[in-house]
This record gives sequence, structure tokens and C-alpha cells, in this order.
Amino acid sequence: MTRTVKILIVDDEAMVRLNMRALLEDLGFIVFEAANGCEALDLFEQELPELILTDLRMPEMDGLTLIREMHKKHPDTPLIVISGTGSISSAMEAVHCGAWDFIEKPIIDQSALEMVISHTLERSRLLLENRRYHDHLEELVQERTVELHQQTLLLEQEMAERQEAQQRLAIEHAELQRLNATLEQRVQEEVEKNRDQERIISHQARLAAMGEMLSNIAHQWRQPLNNLGLYLQNMQLDYQESLLDTERMAEYVSCSMETLQYMSRTISDFQNFFRPDREKKKFTIALAIQEAVHLVEASLKTKGITIRVETSGECAVLGFSNEFSQVVLNIINNARDVLLDRQVPDPVIRIACRCEGKTGIVTIGDNAGGIPEELLDKVFDPYFTTKAKSQGTGLGLYMAKMILSKGMGGHLMAHNAGNGAEFVMEIPIAS
Ligand SMILES: Nc1ncnc2c1ncn2[C@@H]1O[C@H](COP(=O)(O)OP(=O)(O)OP(=O)(O)O)[C@@H](O)[C@H]1O
Ligand SMILES: [Mg+2]
Repeated sequence: MTRTVKILIVDDEAMVRLNMRALLEDLGFIVFEAANGCEALDLFEQELPELILTDLRMPEMDGLTLIREMHKKHPDTPLIVISGTGSISSAMEAVHCGAWDFIEKPIIDQSALEMVISHTLERSRLLLENRRYHDHLEELVQERTVELHQQTLLLEQEMAERQEAQQRLAIEHAELQRLNATLEQRVQEEVEKNRDQERIISHQARLAAMGEMLSNIAHQWRQPLNNLGLYLQNMQLDYQESLLDTERMAEYVSCSMETLQYMSRTISDFQNFFRPDREKKKFTIALAIQEAVHLVEASLKTKGITIRVETSGECAVLGFSNEFSQVVLNIINNARDVLLDRQVPDPVIRIACRCEGKTGIVTIGDNAGGIPEELLDKVFDPYFTTKAKSQGTGLGLYMAKMILSKGMGGHLMAHNAGNGAEFVMEIPIAS
């Protein structure tokens, strides 16, 4: 037994206390004394004894009250009742109120006292140990509960974040779908717009070409109209001078009819030229060039422009012959405009056509001084023109390039060569 255990003796009889002290000190305990419950409570607060031995009947505060108080404030401190012989029932009541054990007075048997005390202290130790163990377990449970709670919180947070992310994804997905839908619609609209634009451009180009044609017809008709006028005037003069016999009359009619037929042919030529080809056909490049040249020859001649055509080999290609002639015509008209605008002396337009392997090559050049280098890239853009608004739409070369690339799988390029511009067409030869 630990000999430093503090024991508080509570008894109103000094003799009893003395006797007990002697016995206990002999057993090695440190002993404190109190004469009643009140003193005992005070002393307890000061010395914190491990065990209290108390009498029951005492003045001021009796043993039962002390037991109750101690049980309320310090339930773990063991209390042993020292009761007089014959008051077992009081001792039992004391145990009921919280006393741990009881010893009968007077105490004579030191070893019995030692046994009761050591038994009580052992109980107290076990109780404390139990309590500590219980507290430890409680602490562990608490810690684990906190941990679990935190984990639950984390899990809940994670779930909430996931849900939020899922919602965000759903919103983004919906937004993407909406964008996709409008995108498709926008692409559709753009394609439609482009198609409309192309239709407008091609229509404008056609109108411009027809304008050109009208002026060409006018040129082609100037001479025959002149001739018709002369025939009529001569006829009148011959009649006035009575020279108009049947033979002469027939001659005038024949000449006039020939001229009229020539004029009518011109109209047919232009009509044919403007009739859109229905399907791609094999045609000879040289012939299509000849047709185009034939239509403008007269008007070029009246403006003093020489046109030279050199063809070698029979290049047959697949495409729309009329459209190809229009390409040639556009390029000739451009050359004519620049030659006249720049008032070039001895203006010439040269056209050459040859076969190179599987490609037909056509070059159309002039001696008008060429295209400024910085404009070479732009001349094929739609609506690009250096002419006054009333004189050019800027669609001629754009259409020419489209016809060659889309209709015939060919190319149209421009560069400066010699003392003028040169346009080069490359068209795959039909097998
Ligand atoms: N032979 C050339 N020499 C110099 N510049 C040229 C020649 N051919 C074309 N160009 C330039 O290229 C531009 C575009 O030609 P394009 O045929 O496309 O339109 P345009 O002739 O101006 O108008 P449109 O043909 O509609 O009447 C011309 O305005 C001109 O500046
Ligand atoms: Mg043009």
C-alpha cells in the first residue's frame, strides 16, 4: 500500500480521533482531523485527502450530511463510516447516501482497519482507472465522431461541388447545342447569301457583256447600214437619170439583200453566242477563239487596233464553248479599253493557242504598258476596276476565272510580258 495516502478523520470525540490517528499513522498514512462535517469539508478543499473516515453523529454537520455533500461535489472520493456498535441501520443508510463501507467503533483491530481501508482504496483506484479508461474511450469516440463528421462534411461538399459541376456541364452542353443549331443556321444563311451573291454577279456580268455586244453589233452594222444607204441613194439617182433598168434594179436588190443577210447573220451570231450551253461538250479552243474574234474584229478595226491570232495544233477541251468565247472576249475588251485609254501608238492584241502535253494553253497579250505590279493580285477580285463607274463593273476577269476554273477545271493567270499585260489560260485537254 502507498504510504503517502492522505486520510481525513472526522469525529467529534477527540479521543476517538487520537486513537485512530495513532493506528493510521502506524500504518503509514498521513492523517488530518476534523471535528464535524463543516470542518471536514473545509479541510477536504485544502488537503484533498484520498479517503475520509467519518462518524455519523456529530454537532454542526453530522456524518450523513457530510456524505451527501461529498457525494454531490466529489463522488469519486471514498468515504468510510465509523459507526458505534448497534447502529448498523444508520450505517446502512449512510451507504445508501454514498458511503463506501463502514467500520464499527471502537476500532481495536488494526489489521481489520487496514483491510477495509486498502479494500476501499483499491476500489477507488479501480474506479478511477475505469473512469480514465472510460474517458479515454469517450475521447476516442469523440475524436472519431469529429473525424467522421468532418469526413461527412467533406463528402457532402464534394457531392455538392460535383452536382454543381454537373449542372454547369449541362448548362454548357445546352449552350453548345444552341450555338450549334444557330451555327448551322448561320452557315446555311451564309451559303444562301453567297449563292445569291454569285447569281447577282453572274447576272450583272451577263448584262455588262450584253452591253458590250450591243456596241459590237452597232459597229458591225455601221458599214452595212452605210452601204444600204448608198444603194438607196444610187438607186434614186439612177432613177432620176432614167438609168434604172431591170438589170440594174436586180443588181441593187441583190446587193441590198446580201447586206441585209449579213446583218441578219450578225444578229444570229450574237444570239447563238448568248444562248447558254446546256451541257458540257468537246470543242476546239482555236474555233471558239475565232468566233469571239469574229464578233469584235469590226469594232477593233474602226478603232485602229490590230488583232493577230496564231494557233497551232487542234486542242479539244471539255466545257461550254460559248462561255469560253466570252472569256476570250472579256480579255480582248479589257486590252482594247487600255489601248484606247492610254492612246498607245500601233495598238496590237496578240492571241496564241497551243497544246502542251495534256494542257491547252492560250495567251492573250497587248502592248498597252501592262498592269501595275501592286494590282496584279487584285484584278480577279469581284468588283475590282480602275475604270469609271459607268465604264466598268469589275466583274469581267472574276467571271472569266470562275468559268475557267469551275466549268473547265482550268486556270487563268495574269502577268506583264514585253510592253503589256499577258493573260494565260491553262485548260486540261479532253481525252
Ligand atoms: N490588258 C490589261 N492591261 C492593263 N490593265 C488591265 C488589263 N486587263 C484588265 N486590267 C485591269 O483589271 C481591271 C479589272 O478588269 P475586269 O475585266 O475584271 O473589270 P473592268 O474591265 O474594269 O470592268 P468590266 O469588265 O466589268 O467592264 C481593270 O479595271 C483594269 O484596271
Ligand atoms: Mg473588263
